[in-house]
Amino acid sequence: MPKDRTKISKCLFPAAGYGTRFLPATKAIPKEMLPVLTKPLLQYGVEEAISAGIDTMAIVTGRGKRAIEDHFDISYELEHQIKGTSKEHYLTEIRAVITRCTFSYTRQIEMKGLGHAILCGETLIGDEPFAVILADDLCDNNIDSVLTQMVKLYEKYRCSIIAVEEIPPEDSNKYGIIAGNMEEDGVIRVANMVEKPDPKNAPSNLAIIGRYILTPDIFDILRETKPGKGGEIQITDALLTQAKEGRVIAYKFQGKRFDCGSVDGFVEATNYFYNKSKG
Ligand code: G1P
Repeated sequence: MPKDRTKISKCLFPAAGYGTRFLPATKAIPKEMLPVLTKPLLQYGVEEAISAGIDTMAIVTGRGKRAIEDHFDISYELEHQIKGTSKEHYLTEIRAVITRCTFSYTRQIEMKGLGHAILCGETLIGDEPFAVILADDLCDNNIDSVLTQMVKLYEKYRCSIIAVEEIPPEDSNKYGIIAGNMEEDGVIRVANMVEKPDPKNAPSNLAIIGRYILTPDIFDILRETKPGKGGEIQITDALLTQAKEGRVIAYKFQGKRFDCGSVDGFVEATNYFYNKSKG
């Protein structure tokens, strides 16, 4: 049967950044491998993608990130040691992930921004719509995951979808900020978007968080996108090209999101998941 090119079957994880805000922890360990309770951030992201019906994970790594590949692989020595013991259940979740998904990797050689990282992933994605998860935005929702909600919306709108949430206006310089027109409750057709504007120039208080569904023409647009904020190639700038053609939907998702790229957000997420685990 030919492949359905309209279905979201791949998720891209940009994971090449240095994680400087978590030094010295991230000196030899990728920031995506930092655990909230006992699970690395990236595994939360992969499990969210699985919950949205995705089974192909495409990871853009960089130097010093080999622990990521080892994590999503079998450790025969460990399996041998633990088999048949009372500790075997600790491996249940990661075994399920490994059995269910395929993982592919490519390296971003130079750090030229999120847009550039996504463009590096083209070789793993090809010519089909795909999801992007930034693992340091950790999301949780009791019913549909944030990405599941977005995949459902994609099936209706068939264009790029970005997750947004309201932020305090003074934080606009930490996020991509959007503006547009309401399509339906919680759904906005984006007309403008700006990467990390000063609060006085922000077009709204709706910030992009690290969940995207992108149509594959984004790669051609990214190839033409000039460095923007911070001298980096920004996905926000590339999406603005699509937005001007009415092809970007912003979605106020249901659920919680923690900025695990900051120490405060990381501690908040840890407390939240700890309390949740205690029921
Ligand atoms: C990136 C994007 C930004 C977005 C944010 C969400 O920024 O460039 O538009 O709002 O992710 O986490 P970063 O946090 O990588 O600087």
